[in-house]
Amino acid sequence: IMSSEIECYFETALELTKQAGKLIRDRISENKIVEIKSCDIDFVTETDKQVEKLLIDGLSKQFPAHRFIGEETASAGGQSSLTSAPTWIIDPVDGTLNFVHGFPHSCISIGLFIDCQPTLGIIYNPVLEQLFTAKKGQGAYYNGKRIHVSGQTDLTKAIVMMENGTSRDSERFNCLRANQEMLVPVIHGIRSLGSAALNMAMVAMGAAEAYFEFGIHIWDIAAGEIIVTEAGGVVCNPAGGPIDRMSRRVLCASSQALAEQLTQKLVQFYPTPRDD
Ligand code: IPD
Repeated sequence: IMSSEIECYFETALELTKQAGKLIRDRISENKIVEIKSCDIDFVTETDKQVEKLLIDGLSKQFPAHRFIGEETASAGGQSSLTSAPTWIIDPVDGTLNFVHGFPHSCISIGLFIDCQPTLGIIYNPVLEQLFTAKKGQGAYYNGKRIHVSGQTDLTKAIVMMENGTSRDSERFNCLRANQEMLVPVIHGIRSLGSAALNMAMVAMGAAEAYFEFGIHIWDIAAGEIIVTEAGGVVCNPAGGPIDRMSRRVLCASSQALAEQLTQKLVQFYPTPRDD
């Protein structure tokens, strides 16, 4: 694909993201009507649906041959298979629980995959005006400035991000607790922003060294993957080896060495069903 084509895809997506971001910004401190999805802490609001529609309508008008995997379309029974066709993977509001509470860490996350490979990523938090972007081979940016991972190689000097997530699965909770118990005594600290995409952005900009989660979906990580790798970081399977994008598991880190230290120590959980 020509780089001018990628540029056109990027500019179109960015313009729509800015428009859609206004909906999130205008409504974050209002009362929302909340619907429950997979369990009592997995939410969807009218804003999630409107943002997704605005983005998919806008992109499909410009690029009629492109395909889409959207969080709310998938939740409503749409399918999530990733083919070689250009595919936009969209989380309209990543951090919906934050959005519902008015906690200012929610974002739009958009990744474009071509030939099943990440090509561009946009993560936009319209509340705090944080824009993270990356295009294949062209580096990662935060509000227009180039960013890099910290490069830290020592887990004992790391901030590690992890999440409670949006399921009440007791086995997953046990795994979470075991990992917390293993990490807290040896690392610098644990953090969570309540958005997988923004956690990945923190690793990309060198503010945190690692993030892992069992139970995320492809739309939570599709933009973050290329932003982290273009910032010089590593995105992989939390059990080691290359990322399995539909497995609902992810680990990203500031270096290969740090990723390996974590993968050797983590208690593993394999969420079902997969995204594909
Ligand atoms: C959620 C957020 C959260 C993570 C959950 C995700 P959503 O996405 O990324 O940080 O822990 O696993 O489902 O549902 O707000 O788009």
